[in-house]
Amino acid sequence: MCLCWVRVRMCLRGWRTVSHRHLPRPDLPGLEQSRELAEWLAGPRSRALQRAGIGRRRRLLEVGSGHGVVTPELKRRARGMVVSLDRDGEALRQGAVTDVPRVAGDCRQLPFADESFDLVFFQNVLLWAPELEWVVAEAARMVEPGGALVAIEPDYGGMMEHPAMGLRELWFAGLLAAGADPEVGRKLPGACEAAGLDTWVELSHLPSAAEPQAVLLLEDLPLTNQQHEQVRSLAKAVSERSGRWSPFVHAPYFLVVGSKP
Ligand SMILES: C[S@@+](CC[C@H](N)C(=O)[O-])C[C@H]1O[C@@H](n2cnc3c(N)ncnc32)[C@H](O)[C@@H]1O
Repeated sequence: MCLCWVRVRMCLRGWRTVSHRHLPRPDLPGLEQSRELAEWLAGPRSRALQRAGIGRRRRLLEVGSGHGVVTPELKRRARGMVVSLDRDGEALRQGAVTDVPRVAGDCRQLPFADESFDLVFFQNVLLWAPELEWVVAEAARMVEPGGALVAIEPDYGGMMEHPAMGLRELWFAGLLAAGADPEVGRKLPGACEAAGLDTWVELSHLPSAAEPQAVLLLEDLPLTNQQHEQVRSLAKAVSERSGRWSPFVHAPYFLVVGSKP
């Protein structure tokens, strides 16, 4: 059954390579796609982590670590230990990183005592958390005074495209159908303030050339057959683009650092 399903997926995806292990998961792209996403966010992430004083942090919690593609960077930049947490035990087991403590758990109820960490990190996780204020308050509970929370989350409501292709509408449809919040970014600063954190926010990042892989991330979302068809033809159109900036596509990310007084 597994092999058939993989073949069907490869057929559906056309020229996109699909790992045998990766079946569609709306909240967890495959390893390669996760690496690409992390790479796109490298500059903004570096700024936010620096702002949060990562170089002096001794106990860092990465929430929703997925395949662990950012974990080595956190480990390299922090002064002490990194703990990875995800609700998906399989992703933790098969992840890229095996030399950090990995904990299966839910960000709505973190299995640690108050003030256990001096930095709590999220990237592309909070859009999947239906009770944002609750989750941010729970993360703030983990942070010791003087520590910080860093979150890097998208806001598809601010998505720009030229010429209009309907990408923004597809992201909204797919994320809402999957139970995610496409506009989580703009809600994050207020949620951090409500949790008692001194909040710094930056809207990022610089636009980059439209990539077909970014369009194909939509394929893991629960869209209709017609919408999937649209995704494939948009990815093809982007791969045949006439110049670096044509078509133009940009989805802004919110970088938020909440410091605990
Ligand atoms: C898009 S992936 C991001 C993974 C990683 N942060 C990265 O940037 O590569 C989202 C991750 O959040 C995890 N996740 C979603 N909801 C969660 C929850 N309630 N508690 C813990 N992890 C959750 C998923 O299992 C998934 O691994």
